[in-house]
Amino acid sequence: MDIKGISRDKQQVIEEIIKIKNEKRAVILAHYYTLPEIQDICDYLGDSLGLSQQAASTDSPLIVFCGVNFMAETASIISPDKKVIVPDNTAGCSLAESITGSDLLEWKRENPTGVVVSYVNTTADVKAYTDICCTSANALRVIESIPAGKKILFVPDKNLGEYIRYKSGREMEIWPGSCCVHQRFTSRLVLDLAAKYPKADILIHPESSCSADPQIHNMSRAWFYSTSGMINHVQNSKSDQFVIVTEKEIIHRMKQICPSKEYISVDVPCRQMKKSTLEKLLSALRSETPGIKVEAGLREMAYPSIERMLRL
Ligand code: 13P
Ligand code: SF4
Repeated sequence: MDIKGISRDKQQVIEEIIKIKNEKRAVILAHYYTLPEIQDICDYLGDSLGLSQQAASTDSPLIVFCGVNFMAETASIISPDKKVIVPDNTAGCSLAESITGSDLLEWKRENPTGVVVSYVNTTADVKAYTDICCTSANALRVIESIPAGKKILFVPDKNLGEYIRYKSGREMEIWPGSCCVHQRFTSRLVLDLAAKYPKADILIHPESSCSADPQIHNMSRAWFYSTSGMINHVQNSKSDQFVIVTEKEIIHRMKQICPSKEYISVDVPCRQMKKSTLEKLLSALRSETPGIKVEAGLREMAYPSIERMLRL
């Protein structure tokens, strides 16, 4: 593989990664927020839902997950017979860290009739007490699958929760967690960008803090999407200019798919996603560590919430 503009040293690292990956029949999964060089060498690049689906369907014995830990943990829950490794096992997520299994258990005790819907950005402990998971790509579908009149407890993202409540009109109790990146995408910021770029389509991730603001929803050129939804929109839109309200690295893929279009991003990186570097990926592939393994008892408790989501 030859990646344009990459140094000779990096090129050697890439060649070594590909060689070992092929020898071990490994599959490299990566999220759109990872570094461009990781996006360019992975076997599958996707959003949280697509990555879970790939983890479920791959026949590779070794999954290398370039993303953050809850994603690799989800892959381990879905495919317990596969070895799951990561380039850096300190890659956390502020959202996933905003609730623990015991917090959720306590909340459930206070609301015994509530159906727990957890965003996939949660730890295995939280998934163990969850009825059904969702991602930003299927959250509305998941909520609509719950019988009307049932009380919903949504964890952990207050912005995605409020977005779903706004769109679905459902009664929901929402946990007050948030993503440190998307919390910075306020209504003020989005309105200013919309004024500065009057012809651009405005694509917003529902984790953003402006997600339930009617002012934003009333803008005819604003759309809310998961990361893969944004990519599809760019591909299918007649517009030539896009304001991208999510983590900026997704633009790397957009530029590859539609190079003649213009992308305006906000420079708020998810530093955890950048912990997957080529060098650490190579080292992980060589040593098959660090591994992410959810122990069997916890896996049995957490799996049904993911399986129900994947079945939808
Ligand atoms: P999606 O890629 O599922 O839209 O989620 C974004 C995200 O923040 C992942 O951590
Ligand atoms: Fe977590 Fe936010 Fe980073 Fe996504 S962007 S991994 S939600 S901290």
